Amino acid sequence: MRKLKIVQIVGTRPNFVKSAPLLKVLRKNSKHFDSILIHTGQHYDRNLSQLFFDDLKMPKPDIYLGVGSGSHAQQTGMIMIELEKVLMRLKPDLVIVFGDVNSTLAAALVASKLCLKLAHVEAGLRSFDNTMPEEINRIVTDRLSDILFVSEKAGQVNLENEGVQKEKVFLVGNIMIDSLVNNMETAQKSDVLNRLHLEPYKYIIATTHRPSNVDNGETLKVLINCFKDISNRLPVIFSCHPRTRQRIEEFGLLNGNENGQFRIVEPLGYLDFLKLQSKSKLVITDSGGIQEETTYLGIPCITLRENTELPATVDVGSNTICGTDPRKITSTVEQLLKGRYKKSGIPELWDGNTASRIVEVLKEELL
Ligand code: UD1
Ligand code: UDP
Repeated sequence: MRKLKIVQIVGTRPNFVKSAPLLKVLRKNSKHFDSILIHTGQHYDRNLSQLFFDDLKMPKPDIYLGVGSGSHAQQTGMIMIELEKVLMRLKPDLVIVFGDVNSTLAAALVASKLCLKLAHVEAGLRSFDNTMPEEINRIVTDRLSDILFVSEKAGQVNLENEGVQKEKVFLVGNIMIDSLVNNMETAQKSDVLNRLHLEPYKYIIATTHRPSNVDNGETLKVLINCFKDISNRLPVIFSCHPRTRQRIEEFGLLNGNENGQFRIVEPLGYLDFLKLQSKSKLVITDSGGIQEETTYLGIPCITLRENTELPATVDVGSNTICGTDPRKITSTVEQLLKGRYKKSGIPELWDGNTASRIVEVLKEELL
């Protein structure tokens, strides 16, 4: 029997976390599949890219497009130009894309125009907010995909409402949780708490990188002041994405009067950050992946957005949507510190076996 050539395309920090478990299971099934990894280069700093390949024990990408940063059109267009050449040469049997970043959209457009079969991991999620660039990437990618792997029930419902044929949609669970489960034991050996002089459950993590929160000087100022306020109660460790770092500098938001309790750190590697999350009192974030990881870990999470494409993290999990109103954020923190926070659970199929379920579907559909 001929082996099938499967190309996975990744470009950003959360993409690496989603593709690592699938690469592992595909390579275990090398009797059936030849697996090729393409990195677009959307994220290129060591601590957003190479460190994740190291921590997740991922093989070096077979092909690196080196596209880098730019406006949406520039970045998407550059990835398309470079990727088209590669996919025309490779002629894969299937292209797999992950999540909702520009690399996902660009790859979906190129693959479908070359009439290559396309699978989308993390399909069907919707924030119903088209001002979010990721929402546009998700809608277009799902529309073009032949196989749609869904992480939570709401995704299935959204796709059904959009008229996607049921036969193309597979509820397989959350692949980010596969990475979490696979790496939890190793992550516990990280000495990040010692390095940052933190005591378990006596600190709060904050992250923010959504354009709606950081590209507007007023909103970012409100958020930073809110984190500083909260740090009077417990230390706040602010993992600072490069987009956010640039904006903080551009808007001149740090005046040197920060108390030692509000600490800005460079983005951490996957294992350090997993350990840090697992021992935190609370995470305050606008990240999608972190809403999911805190849910699995049962760590309270405040989301700095007005909506989420991940309703299971709120309905079942430990997530609370607070938007950017500092009163709402601080009152939720106070409730939590008084011991009043909702009990949470883990959504269906978030169990560490999603990559295996995906590969079983691929065998059924393609072999
Ligand atoms: C991208 C995704 C977002 C995802 C996030 C994960 C899109 C539209 N956005 O946002 O959905 O949540 O990744 O972290 O795809 N930069 C660096 N070094 C790098 C990469 C970026 O300094 O290695 C800086 C550049 O100035 C760049 C800016 O960060 O312009 C934004 O990077 P970009 O990849 O365009 O978007 P993110 O904000 O990272
Ligand atoms: N992450 C990390 N170090 C950090 C911040 C985040 O390892 O300092 C991990 C996090 O655990 C999750 C992923 O990065 O696995 C989420 O990526 P990000 O928040 O950049 O993107 P999103 O999920 O919002 O698209």
